[in-house]
Amino acid sequence: MSTAIERFDDKARDAFDHIGQNEVHVGELLRHRVYTRFLHWMVALFFFLALFTGFSIYLPWLFRWFTPIFGGGPLSREMHPWFGLGFVVFFGLQTLNWIRPMTWTAADTKWMRNIRNIAAGKEKQDPPETGFFNAGQKAQFWEIVGGCAVYLVTGIILWAGTRTFGRWAVAVSYVLHDISAIIMLGGIFIHIYLSTIGEPGTFQAMIRGAVSEAWAWTFHPAWYKEMTGRDPVEACEEARRHGKFEGK
Ligand code: HEM
Repeated sequence: MSTAIERFDDKARDAFDHIGQNEVHVGELLRHRVYTRFLHWMVALFFFLALFTGFSIYLPWLFRWFTPIFGGGPLSREMHPWFGLGFVVFFGLQTLNWIRPMTWTAADTKWMRNIRNIAAGKEKQDPPETGFFNAGQKAQFWEIVGGCAVYLVTGIILWAGTRTFGRWAVAVSYVLHDISAIIMLGGIFIHIYLSTIGEPGTFQAMIRGAVSEAWAWTFHPAWYKEMTGRDPVEACEEARRHGKFEGK
């Protein structure tokens, strides 16, 4: 029986597939539908808007040069909480959309224990149990969920100010808000690297929605098996024999 969240997401996915398009060629698999991609890019947009307006509040002497883009320092300060709110709302919707594939499993704990070999590229494929998202992606996702909760609580305190919450609450909120931003920014740098140069073929998943089968059997073998019914190792070997795959 489907839950209210699943019904909401299914409706949204179908509605967005009527507005945009998924472009899947022969030898590819559909990975992210229009709704997921829309939410992802809205999250990214509001994240960077909040980040840049946040910088101009955090270090005005260093980032004064780009405050005119947002209409000057005072306006940047005024707009920052709204951009932050946009980020949290869109990420909240993405959380509902991804709650199932982001659920932590025993295979994820195993993946994490093996992270050194995977990061060093010693493995030909990710471990066979790696499903739609790997443990690294899930860990980052849950870090962002936690970060959003911190932004929301501390952000409201900072927005309302000392008159409502007192000096201590505001001082502590400043520190937590900024620590959360620094941690998240560090993670996002890694995320952008891995989604583009680090793991070639990933970026198109968030542009037209599809990835190659080779990408799927390399990084997400269990998902590949679920989608095609084929064994990822055999599929890789066969493609190699026919000269169709020259990867790891
Ligand atoms: C311009 C910058 C960005 C690029 C190029 C990018 C690219 C991508 C791509 C290609 C995926 C799909 C990965 C897959 O299917 O396995 C993805 C997933 C994801 N993105 Fe981004 N993204 C960017 C910014 C952001 C920002 C700012 C956030 C949040 C603050 C974010 C959060 C996520 C999350 C949580 C996922 C799912 C898990 C993962 O793949 O790590 N992304 N992104």
